[in-house]
Amino acid sequence: MIFLNGDWMPIEDAKISVLDRGFIYGDGVYEYVPVINRKPYRLLPHLARLDKSCQEIGLKNPYSVEQWSDIIKQIIAKQSFDDQGVYWQVTRGVAKRDHTFPKDVEPTVFMMSNPLPKLTQTQIDDGVACYTYPDLRWHRCHIKSISLLGNVLARQHSFEQGGVECVMLRDGFMTEASASNVFCVFGDTIVSPPKDNHILGGITLDGVMELATKSNMKLVVRSVPEAEMWTADEMWLSSSSKGVLAITSLDDKPIGNPLHRGKPGPMFKKMFAIMQADMHA
Ligand SMILES: Cc1ncc(COP(=O)(O)O)c(C=O)c1O
Repeated sequence: MIFLNGDWMPIEDAKISVLDRGFIYGDGVYEYVPVINRKPYRLLPHLARLDKSCQEIGLKNPYSVEQWSDIIKQIIAKQSFDDQGVYWQVTRGVAKRDHTFPKDVEPTVFMMSNPLPKLTQTQIDDGVACYTYPDLRWHRCHIKSISLLGNVLARQHSFEQGGVECVMLRDGFMTEASASNVFCVFGDTIVSPPKDNHILGGITLDGVMELATKSNMKLVVRSVPEAEMWTADEMWLSSSSKGVLAITSLDDKPIGNPLHRGKPGPMFKKMFAIMQADMHA
C-alpha cells in the first residue's frame, strides 16, 4: 500500500494530475529513510532535512514531525517485509502551468515503501567500481530536490561502464556521487567535503562523522582537490540505502595504497562494522 494525499491504496490505483508541478517542473522535494527490522534509522534528521528542503523552496511542509512519523509508522506496518526503504515526496501541487508559485494550492504528498536494497557480500568484501563525471548540476545541491536530471545523467554514465556510482567533480574538486556522499581516507584520517551548497548533507554522512568521533577515528572536513583524490588510501560512498561502501576502482584505476590496492582498506572495515552495529542496535 502507498500513501497519496491522505489516502491509502495499492500503487496501481494511485493517480495524480498531469498538471502536478512535480510532473511539469520537478517542483518538489523528497526524502528516503532506511528501515531496519521495521524500525526507521535516524528518522528525525530525515524529517528535519525535509523541513529545511521545503523552506529552501518556499513550500509549506504539510505535516508536523509527529504526523510524518505516524504516516511512516503506518506504511511500515502495511508491508510484508522487515527491512524497507521509505521514499516520500512533496510537490507544490496541481495548478495551471505557470512558473510562478500558485496561490491556495495543496501540496501533493506521495509515500511508498520498498524492500531495502541489500549490498552483496562481494560488494562489501571487494568494494565497487565508480566513474568520474563533471558535476553539471545547479548550485543548490543541498536541497533534496526531486529535479535530479544532473544526478541521473551522471549515474547513467557510470552504469554504462559497469560502475555502481559516479564521483562528481566541480571546478577541480570532488563533490559527491549521484545518490551518495563520498569520503577519502588519507593515512588514518577520514576526509569529507564541507556540507555546502554543492553537496547534499547526507544523514549517513552525519552518521559517519558521529560514529568516527565516538570511535576515536580522525575525521576532517575540507575540500578535496581532484589531484589529491587520486592519491587517497581509501575512498568510500555513504547513503541511506547503502550505509558505507568502499570504492576500490575509479575510472578503471585501482584505489588505495599498495598494501590493499583495489580492496577495501582497514579504515573502511572498521567504519563498516561500527555502522552495521549502529544500524542493527
Ligand atoms: C545527491 C545525494 N547525495 C548524498 C546522498 C546521501 O544522503 P543520505 O545519507 O541522507 O541518504 C543522497 C541520497 O539520496 C543523494 O541523493
